[in-house]
Amino acid sequence: MTQLPDADTFEIERDEMTDTATEDAVRTIEAADVPTRYARGWHCIGLASNFSDGKPHTIHAFGGKLVVFQGSDGQINVLDAYCRHMGGDLSQGEVKGNTVACPFHDWRWGGDGRCKEIPYARRVPLRARTQAWPTMIHGGLLFVWNDPEGNPPIPEQMIPEIKGANDDGWTDWAWNEIEIDTNCREVIDNVVDMAHFFYIHFSFPNYFRNVFEKHVATQYMKGQAREDIFVPGKPKSSSSVAAYFGPSFMIDDLDYNYGDYSSQITLINCHYPVNENKFVLMYGILVKIGDHLPREQAIEVAKKNEIGVGVGFNQDIAIWKNKTRIDNPLLCEQDGPVYQLRRWYEQFYVDVADIQSEMVNRFEFEIDTERPVEAWKAQVAENVAKGRLVGAPTGGS
Ligand code: FES
Ligand SMILES: [Fe+2]
Repeated sequence: MTQLPDADTFEIERDEMTDTATEDAVRTIEAADVPTRYARGWHCIGLASNFSDGKPHTIHAFGGKLVVFQGSDGQINVLDAYCRHMGGDLSQGEVKGNTVACPFHDWRWGGDGRCKEIPYARRVPLRARTQAWPTMIHGGLLFVWNDPEGNPPIPEQMIPEIKGANDDGWTDWAWNEIEIDTNCREVIDNVVDMAHFFYIHFSFPNYFRNVFEKHVATQYMKGQAREDIFVPGKPKSSSSVAAYFGPSFMIDDLDYNYGDYSSQITLINCHYPVNENKFVLMYGILVKIGDHLPREQAIEVAKKNEIGVGVGFNQDIAIWKNKTRIDNPLLCEQDGPVYQLRRWYEQFYVDVADIQSEMVNRFEFEIDTERPVEAWKAQVAENVAKGRLVGAPTGGS
């Protein structure tokens, strides 16, 4: 275990193996109820083009139902789907001008959440206002800002530029989404989980480091090819810098090295909560077009990677489906800083006034990979000797 010199000194919470008093005690799994509050921050809800057809769309998110619609001014708006008149579902209504019209009695709601018109009424009641979420389109993706305190977006938490988005030198999005029946903390945990990349995703990490600071949690990972998998023309090595900007949007800059050339990929791994026990996971791929990868081939690579990442997430899902929530994981020395990551994640679930320094201070941790690499090399060699192919390396997170 290497704690980098400039890291803040956080005590790594690990099992005290030498503590004889507790040696014989059975470890108990602890899990508090899942939070019913939803994280503050930008949440991507999909490709903006999917919402730009002049029709209202239903999105189940943040424990409720939202209506997403593009007004005639081109602005995409997000409102609570339930009409404040008598509870009609606006997402079943119609877009009329810059408003969404309720299917029940035709009340017209604007993107600012205010009722603009009631065709059969002399005037609109004073308090005719519903909940509206701030939105933005960034890199061709639609984002909504969720904040239980009702404050506007925090400028420092703007999503940074997505390499390759809206860029002719790259492919367009290969995009997909899956609904997952568990609390979204499970997908966040993967940021620090080096070992599962070998066991679940059939990759071979040999370098793994995390940095958490402010609202950003980064994972630096390098990997090598496995001999016990069969993929024609597989890369010799890979390098990935994957960072969550806020609670739900990860940009992964990937580099696959094929020896005499390398290919660059941007992978988005993001989600929004449907409720406390369900989330929609979305992933998108952009591939850089280059001399070794003309446009047509790059599009194929993007599609293949999208499928690969989907397989990867299904490997995670198989685990999530059957595992239990655990607040006190029992860690060994070669595990990553799960507790520190969860402290970082906690900042999005408390009021801004209650954010503690330990949630946002810079923290760095690099796993000593000597022992895992040794063990995994031996396992790969054994698989090769037995002619056992374990599968294909996948994306996932
Ligand atoms: S319930 Fe929406 S207009 Fe009456
Ligand atoms: Fe994973």
